[in-house]
Amino acid sequence: MYTRKNQRNLTRTEKKRLVAALLELKRSGRYDEFVRMHGQYYVSDAEDGRRAAHMTPSFFPWHRRFLLEFERALQAVDPGVSIPYWDWTTDNTPASSLWAEDFLGGNGRSGDRQVMTGPFAYANGNWKINARITDGTFLTRNFGRPSHPVSLPTKADVDRALRRPVYDAAPWDSTVRTGFRNEIEGWEAGGNDRWRNHNRVHRWVGGLMMGATSPNDPVFWLHHAFMDLLWTRWRSAHPDAGYLPRRKLPESDAQHGRVFSLDEPMPPWNVTPASLLDHRRFYRYA
Ligand code: CU
Ligand code: CU
Repeated sequence: MYTRKNQRNLTRTEKKRLVAALLELKRSGRYDEFVRMHGQYYVSDAEDGRRAAHMTPSFFPWHRRFLLEFERALQAVDPGVSIPYWDWTTDNTPASSLWAEDFLGGNGRSGDRQVMTGPFAYANGNWKINARITDGTFLTRNFGRPSHPVSLPTKADVDRALRRPVYDAAPWDSTVRTGFRNEIEGWEAGGNDRWRNHNRVHRWVGGLMMGATSPNDPVFWLHHAFMDLLWTRWRSAHPDAGYLPRRKLPESDAQHGRVFSLDEPMPPWNVTPASLLDHRRFYRYA
């Protein structure tokens, strides 16, 4: 059993060890395997096929397992590290210690948006982008997208989502207007400008954090650890409301065979959402 901490409370040494483990996974090629896996499971509901990871009820359990796998890889390098979480409702400016030189580095420069500071700056020689859709070998960010500004979600946005009494609802995709899952995942008709919570944070960081290969930016893991923490908070707030759909959808349902109910095993690990509901089997949050 280990603890995931708020990134703002990490000591200098803890940050150093986490960065070292990230760089070692990158050096060995393991890191890019996770980036590719995420890209492979980035299936939109406009496409055919099963959706395990996004625009789907199993958004939370799929990413919980994805983070666990990544955390195990980090711990194989250094057993003392875990994935911290980024509470962007409080650390909500580019001046946050998250973006300092000794941790994740800062914003991209104007023009090509290249990150120039910190351990993941291309110029420092340890962070070449290999798995992505478009060209470019360096990490990019564009905080708040000044040309078309977007703000980070607020505590009120998160609290509103946590009050939702139901986990998810038909049609179990990006168009659901009730339910905790899409309120947090954040899809909204009208596109980018209206995206909320989880999606809005990807958009605020900008650069490589947008799109299928977003784990290229190490802040991905800290953002998703916070998503995972919010899922634990929702579960404690609504102890009688469970994961939905509970049973396999009938063949008459348009989403039959496309989403994962409680006991349907999710690829690529062949694990059910049910087996991932209780995070305390794996770690706790501080
Ligand atoms: Cu994802
Ligand atoms: Cu995400």
